[in-house]
Amino acid sequence: LVASLTVDPAFRIAAVDPRLYGSFVEHMGRCVYTGIYEPDHPTADAAGFRRDVADLVRGLGVPVLRYPGGNFVSGYDWEDGIGPRDQRPTRLDLAWRSIETNQVGIDEFAAWSRGVGSAPMMALNLGTRGVDAARALLEYCNHPGGTYWSDLRRSNGSADPHGIKLWCLGNELDGPWQIGHKTAREYAQLAAETAKAMRRVDPSIELAAGGSSHSRMPTLGTWEATVLEETYDLVDYISIHTYYEQRGADRDSFLASGVNLDRFIEAAVATCDHARAVGRHRKRIHVSVDEWNVWYQSKFAGEGSLDWEQAPRLIEDTYSIVDAVVVGSLLISLLRHADRVKIACLAQLVNVIAPIRTEPGGPAWRQSIYHPFALTSRYARGTVLRVEPTGPTHETSWLGEVPTLDATAVIDEEAGAVVLFAVNRHQHQPLSVDVDLRACRGLAVGEHVAMYDEDPDATNSAARPDRAVPAGWRTSRSPTGTRAWCSRRCPGT
Ligand code: AHR
Repeated sequence: LVASLTVDPAFRIAAVDPRLYGSFVEHMGRCVYTGIYEPDHPTADAAGFRRDVADLVRGLGVPVLRYPGGNFVSGYDWEDGIGPRDQRPTRLDLAWRSIETNQVGIDEFAAWSRGVGSAPMMALNLGTRGVDAARALLEYCNHPGGTYWSDLRRSNGSADPHGIKLWCLGNELDGPWQIGHKTAREYAQLAAETAKAMRRVDPSIELAAGGSSHSRMPTLGTWEATVLEETYDLVDYISIHTYYEQRGADRDSFLASGVNLDRFIEAAVATCDHARAVGRHRKRIHVSVDEWNVWYQSKFAGEGSLDWEQAPRLIEDTYSIVDAVVVGSLLISLLRHADRVKIACLAQLVNVIAPIRTEPGGPAWRQSIYHPFALTSRYARGTVLRVEPTGPTHETSWLGEVPTLDATAVIDEEAGAVVLFAVNRHQHQPLSVDVDLRACRGLAVGEHVAMYDEDPDATNSAARPDRAVPAGWRTSRSPTGTRAWCSRRCPGT
């Protein structure tokens, strides 16, 4: 099979917003407790956070971290997580039927995220709470001092404001599973009033209104239209969530999941633009894909305890080479829509459907999906180019006919580099790609990295943390000539 594409710096989609490489920390399972935070771990820092995990998070390259949920946030009282730790209440978390000890709260999380080169994207409880709790939390986080909530933050040890810029107006309130689930109109009005009050506390914030929880929601489209009818002038983003898995033996459809993400994003954009036309608005609403990943929901349905444990093992999916390829393709889809998608969060960061896994008291390691994410976060910086691929297609039972090649390119003008991202969605056929570089005179191929393996189901584990890793080669120019570097299992492309 042969496909082709053209790289021309004149054909630009948009600059990549670095917040496209966000991730998500929920108080769920072992994401926080024994994930990022474990005071008894041999690598724990003075605040109780694991240094081994923090190093892996830095290597992943996540400039923004959504926190603290997720379904968890819709029953969360943020005030439980501030002040002296020994006085914080232990509560029932109704979303995951777990025990929440509140040993980590906003002050600890804000300080930890700064340390790993990230910033919180704070989600608000619009399930059981509303305007008052939201404006108090914002005052606590962002107001410099001299008021009740800001002085409380200072007396709790954070003299400087956390300066949290990005806020999510609730989580998945379109879903009947959500605590405090609402109709579109009820949610829209609450989101609008919350946004209005918050903008009075701090006009510099950015707000994401909740859109559809997945692309099969019966309310997709009408939910967003109603929400934007009430909130258009008050918000900056509409958020969507999406997870993918291989169903049964249908790997062809799974490998083409990016086509579904393309369509979902385009549906959200169309609804935003419809609301813009109807309301005669000038500004555009952008999209925040603030939960996305591979998640084996049906395979592991009912797995794990939901019976009032502290930090139970919940949805700790182990990822394969195929999953890494799909994650790579989903990243390409996000980049292709860089003109409208400004924020995206790989859900979640540690242990819970995550690129990083840990054992309590033991090691931390990278899952296969860590690698395409880290490589894309590192290399896809600059401007996304429209590459117009042409080539073979194949049939899938879920998505119909799909292009076999999924590709995009990013130009980094400062570094003078073009990076091409490509996925062969075909399980069995090799695919060559002819790249027309006539518009890029003077470029030479410098490096090639691929996730590739004779065993597509290979995974990493605590015992074998480097089984599913990228392979590749690189050339480096020096006064003495050109040298080539090649890692093990080089696919020789
Ligand atoms: O990321 C796991 C869960 O998936 C989140 O809590 C929820 O928002 C989504 O349904």
